Amino acid sequence: MDISIKRKGDYIESVSTKGAVISLVSSGDGTEIIHHKLESGFRWYIAPEEGWLALEYVHILSGELVWQKQDGDVVLKSGDSITAYMLTEMANFIAAQETEFLYIVSRPYFHNYSGSIQKLFDFAVNIEEKDGYTSDHCDRIKRLSLLVGEKMGLSSYELYILNLAGFLHDIGKTKIPEHILNKPSKLTDEEYEQMKLHTTYGKRLLHESGIPDLRLVGDVVEQHHERYDGKGYPHRLQGDQISKLAAIIAVVDSYDAMTIDRVYQKGRPRDEALQEIERFSGTMYNPDIVKVFLSISDQL
Ligand SMILES: [Fe+2]
Ligand SMILES: [Fe+2]
Repeated sequence: MDISIKRKGDYIESVSTKGAVISLVSSGDGTEIIHHKLESGFRWYIAPEEGWLALEYVHILSGELVWQKQDGDVVLKSGDSITAYMLTEMANFIAAQETEFLYIVSRPYFHNYSGSIQKLFDFAVNIEEKDGYTSDHCDRIKRLSLLVGEKMGLSSYELYILNLAGFLHDIGKTKIPEHILNKPSKLTDEEYEQMKLHTTYGKRLLHESGIPDLRLVGDVVEQHHERYDGKGYPHRLQGDQISKLAAIIAVVDSYDAMTIDRVYQKGRPRDEALQEIERFSGTMYNPDIVKVFLSISDQL
């Protein structure tokens, strides 16, 4: 155990990302107590480890944490706790309001964990610095993708990857020159070719993070502009060759691009955008996903 870590306030060490502050409260004898403070709407996960020998324990201090189980939601309130032997697969949680809880784990975990959180935070900051539109857009894509994924009954692990891939789908745009990214008029052919590279750049950035889950996210991100009929980029994949998660992002990404107001152009009305998505079902978009997307249109 690394004992040379500095103390910050009441905590040994803290790391924050958009919507969450995670702090190491104590660590010794291989057990760590990790304090979490999540903003309303923040999603948090516990993934079962190979062998699953560690004892893990979640204790709610304040607020409300919703455990999204396949067979229905369980609301955890102040004073409630769960232990990890109750988990057989990845557990997904969402904070229903500002929520604080302790996560106690009988293995050294924080540094690994904080490394991923820090990496995600850096990505989020990069997106935000690039331009405000992209950052809000990424939040909306994450939210809408999850609505579709939940309706489709995806596994908790798939939803976890979809959450990250939705948010990070355009991360490669941080490598595209500003004048192309924010050009108010139509791109030239050459500029468009450069713009298309954001898929490849995105995959590369996520692969380079060295975090296994983010590698998977990178594979999804690379495919978010592939088309069902094989006319997309970068690899002209078609039909089921395209990851289901990427195909979800493709639909909600187009919908968002159509409906959003921009400096130079007002967004189109919701119903018109939905008709457009329906019109390209089976060519641009996976028809199964379009069907689900249209069925949740009242929640958009
Ligand atoms: Fe994109
Ligand atoms: Fe996008």
